[in-house]
Amino acid sequence: MKGILISFEGVDGSGKSTQSRRLYHWLRRIGYDTIHLEEPGGSNLGESVKKILLYSKGEIEGLSELFLFFACRAQLVKETILPSLKKGKILIIDRFSDSTLAYQGYGRGIDKGLIVRLNKIVTKGITPDLTILLDERPKAALKRTKSRKGQKSSLSADRFENEPLSFHQRVRKGYLKIALCNKKRIKIIPVRADEDDTFQEIKKAVLPLLTKMT
Ligand code: TYD
Repeated sequence: MKGILISFEGVDGSGKSTQSRRLYHWLRRIGYDTIHLEEPGGSNLGESVKKILLYSKGEIEGLSELFLFFACRAQLVKETILPSLKKGKILIIDRFSDSTLAYQGYGRGIDKGLIVRLNKIVTKGITPDLTILLDERPKAALKRTKSRKGQKSSLSADRFENEPLSFHQRVRKGYLKIALCNKKRIKIIPVRADEDDTFQEIKKAVLPLLTKMT
């Protein structure tokens, strides 16, 4: 594969969307053919399923939730990720396979071995070249999300943001365990008070990959 895949991971509200978009704009400015994606979403099917996953009123059983995330991923891999990597693009994705292991595995308690096996099938074996794990205490991160959504009356808390703090704490612990097992791929970046400082750390982690590309 000629391209590069960089994923962003972290608990809700840790600033992945902001930082991943910043990285996207920076890479384009300095001349790299770059695409920004997010999960769930990014395809017609993904966008429809995302609404169910985030805002469905009825209860969603754990395995149903798991397969809906996998459905979104399978579609995105086939439609966009695989073709773009073959063309040599840089793909930045806001959440990927590690989210499923952290949220459905560590958060919901679904069999982690099963998730790892299914992830391999659904991604066709594609693993990110680099994963940026934005690490922050869930309490602080969720507070940021609440204040951001509170400013826009059109945005309400989704199914995951409505989970108790203990759920988000399990997710964070899960992420840190996943990072320990994948030291080469996953770079833990603590979220700083100043967004610019966090971004400088992200740039430092990404630069070695760029020199490999040229
Ligand atoms: P969204 O608002 O799209 O993104 P974010 O919170 O990252 O800004 O919400 C996506 C939610 O879906 C988020 O709470 C994490 C969750 N999620 C899973 O539980 N499993 C997964 O595999 C993925 C991709 C996301």
